Amino acid sequence: MLAQTPPMGWNSWNTFGCDINEKVVLETADAIVKHGLDKLGYKYVVIDDGWSSMDRDPVTNRIVPDPVKFPHGMNYVSDYIHSLGLKFGIYSCAGLRTCGNYPGSMDHEYLDAQTFADYGVDLLKYDGCFIPPNVDIHTLYRRMGMALKASGREILFSLCTGNIAQSWARSCGGHMYRSTGDINDSFESFKNIVLSQDQNFCYSAPGCFNDMDMLTVGMYGKGLVSTSDFSDEMYRTQFALWCMFSTPLMLGCDLRNISDEMLKLISNKTLLRINQDPECRPPYRAAHLGYQNFDKNIYFKHLSNNEYAIAYFNYSDGWADVHTCLSDFGLTNESGMGLEITDAFTGECLGVFKEYFVAPHVLSHGIKVYTAKVVKA
Ligand code: GLA
Repeated sequence: MLAQTPPMGWNSWNTFGCDINEKVVLETADAIVKHGLDKLGYKYVVIDDGWSSMDRDPVTNRIVPDPVKFPHGMNYVSDYIHSLGLKFGIYSCAGLRTCGNYPGSMDHEYLDAQTFADYGVDLLKYDGCFIPPNVDIHTLYRRMGMALKASGREILFSLCTGNIAQSWARSCGGHMYRSTGDINDSFESFKNIVLSQDQNFCYSAPGCFNDMDMLTVGMYGKGLVSTSDFSDEMYRTQFALWCMFSTPLMLGCDLRNISDEMLKLISNKTLLRINQDPECRPPYRAAHLGYQNFDKNIYFKHLSNNEYAIAYFNYSDGWADVHTCLSDFGLTNESGMGLEITDAFTGECLGVFKEYFVAPHVLSHGIKVYTAKVVKA
């Protein structure tokens, strides 16, 4: 089964937009291996919109790669990616044209799925632009779900529909579905994505995951969706929340020049373990002491092996000590149990706590993430 845990990899869109080419893709694949990211689970190299010619081949009717951007064709790219032990992803659209106005797959689903299978594609990101008003979007996604299966190749189906497919993505054969509009590289953008997710938690499970969009971690003001509102703290917060929410980890920065700090962040084994936990349970949002503080969220997530993950997300404009009452998580005072709490960033064990826990000094727009075990106390 594909997507037992949230898919991980890189997608070209956030940095390169439609200005994508063979050199960038192959160099990125090399960078993934050079930094050991493949060993951590980052496997998919996904070329987003802008890879094809503006029109289909007049004879075969197939979508064809842009000969300038991809001079050796897509099998060359695919073979190279596969030779490194990575997986190859491509983009198309359920409508008549893609969002960037390249040919879409509507009414060509079976031919296009076969073309992608012939390229050796392992993932299809399938967008929802240029769908005529009288056409049912759900039907178009069902069609591509079947066309991919009919191609004879196992292809991960990544639905990109905005906030409408949660309840039907899985039944169309989808392995991940976007639940948001497009991210940009600012705190405001990913905070709004995060705060819109409470009602989506129930839809993620092995086989099909809620996709909160590609990460902007490490963009540092460069690339298509960049802004000037970025910081290392904000990137730590974003990455940790994507891990807590079991969302696919699709990196969006230019991995060829990733900073050491960001490499360390996306390689954090505890955060990755939280994201890739085999049970893939969603988090819930817990209350905290001092209910007047509405701008700090606490997320609690069951992991396998009697472990839990807890995140304290401070989206206010000042730092805060964030108080929790452990009974909010289900651990009563009378149970004779406490929580042994370990910082996911530093690896430091903070001790065993009963009744209360205070996440100390959570920075503005920052986060603290802990793993916890229930122990006798
Ligand atoms: C939409 C998607 C983006 C990207 C672009 C490509 O906006 O949400 O992730 O794929 O289309 O044009």
